[in-house]
Amino acid sequence: MDVSVVILAAGQGTRMRSDLPKVLQPLAGRPLLEHVIDVAEAVQSKQICVVYGHGGDRVKAQFANRNIDWVLQAEQLGTGHAVMQAMPFVQPDQTVLILCGDVPLVRAETVVVLAAAADSDSLALLTTKLADPYGYGRIIRDVEDHVTSIVEENDATDEQRKLTEINTGLMACSGRLLAQWLGRLAPDNAQGEYYLTDIVACAIEDGVPVVPVGVADCVEVLGINDKRQLAEAEAIYRCRVADALMEQGVTLVDPRRIDVRGKLACGRDVLIDINAVFEGEVELGDGVQIGANAVIRDTSIGAGTVIHPHCVLEQSRIGANCQIGPYARTRPGVEMADDAKLGNFVEIKKSRIGKGSKINHLSYIGDAIIGANVNVGAGTITCNYDGANKHRTTIGDGAFIGSGVELVAPVEIGAGATVGAGSTITKAVPADELVLERSQQRVVRGWKRPVKLT
Ligand code: UD1
Ligand code: CA
Repeated sequence: MDVSVVILAAGQGTRMRSDLPKVLQPLAGRPLLEHVIDVAEAVQSKQICVVYGHGGDRVKAQFANRNIDWVLQAEQLGTGHAVMQAMPFVQPDQTVLILCGDVPLVRAETVVVLAAAADSDSLALLTTKLADPYGYGRIIRDVEDHVTSIVEENDATDEQRKLTEINTGLMACSGRLLAQWLGRLAPDNAQGEYYLTDIVACAIEDGVPVVPVGVADCVEVLGINDKRQLAEAEAIYRCRVADALMEQGVTLVDPRRIDVRGKLACGRDVLIDINAVFEGEVELGDGVQIGANAVIRDTSIGAGTVIHPHCVLEQSRIGANCQIGPYARTRPGVEMADDAKLGNFVEIKKSRIGKGSKINHLSYIGDAIIGANVNVGAGTITCNYDGANKHRTTIGDGAFIGSGVELVAPVEIGAGATVGAGSTITKAVPADELVLERSQQRVVRGWKRPVKLT
């Protein structure tokens, strides 16, 4: 049967104590709900329907580019009521897979098994055992070990509260059965809500088999209700990513101290030191080394390049065998050719740096095109902004820019030119010549320093 996914995401999330709706709280840099939508997409569902409520417009806006049917649950009258809102989108002959917007770590493989366990004539429940089942609905079984119902914490007897097998909230059955059962729910319980879990008792009444599907790794079904659980989920996610990277052969100096908030692709023999943060899409070529405390966003780095500690690289393309940092920053639009070097306290923005060129100390380079084998001396600054517009600096191959030079853009330095230290360059510099722009040095003989008046 085709699978249609319903994601419950209307809950208030009051325990987050945040202005951001719960399902938009970030896990590994992406909203909780996005993780669940990714799982729904991975099961090749025909359709994904999200039941939203609290913070609705912000939630919808965040996923504007996804193919989702949105259903508003204006009042949160319970999980059963939430599913009722989605029924207009559900076909009788589909398997409806119910996921929760606040259970983001579930694996696609697990929900595939759950959906497959619900054929046209059964109800499949994802369950697990927890050492501390407090707060969860308990799975009640009869003497023959068949599931007979789910009892919520608030409605359970002391005896039932001792049971450790719990309902994860994820389930699957045909649209036809779901529609029949939802029509029979009543809010006659401790919370006065329409409980989705009551469909289990309906199934039993109708003689429909209830199939529990156990999930061995209970972290998969961790529900996120507060910031403590959010941090717990973040730590679990971090472990998963680190494991996958090590599996591929990446050396992580400390697998607990790497954060990947997006996609990280690594070649062979990559080494990543502690506290590196990767955001968006990052690619590291063979043999790349990432020093401690790097933050790298939407950037590709060529084979053999070494990023020394404390660098921040963003939307940049770095070639092979480059050396960067420590304490270097590349901003969007940087392209570095192979064998180039950026040293400490160098900031580069929207510039091309040619092969083998070096900018080793304390510089700002913006809107520049720098050729190959150029040496940019310490403290050199491109004055690219006149207060209204940005202007370009062009430096030809093999040029040598002395220390403390200001290049007032737009300006062009010819290939092989040498610019003397301390010069403020406002006009084009011809190729292969030396240019100096500085006042003559003079000596004032016999000059006395002032002395402090007594
Ligand atoms: C629910 C289950 C419980 C299970 C637990 C697992 C019921 C009655 N209980 O309890 O058996 O152990 O999940 O985490 O189903 N939601 C809506 N609209 C509502 C109410 C909830 O969309 O009116 C959504 C929430 O956003 C959340 C999910 O449904 O994603 C679960 O709701 P929640 O209030 O957390 O249910 P629990 O009381 O934890
Ligand atoms: Ca919950």
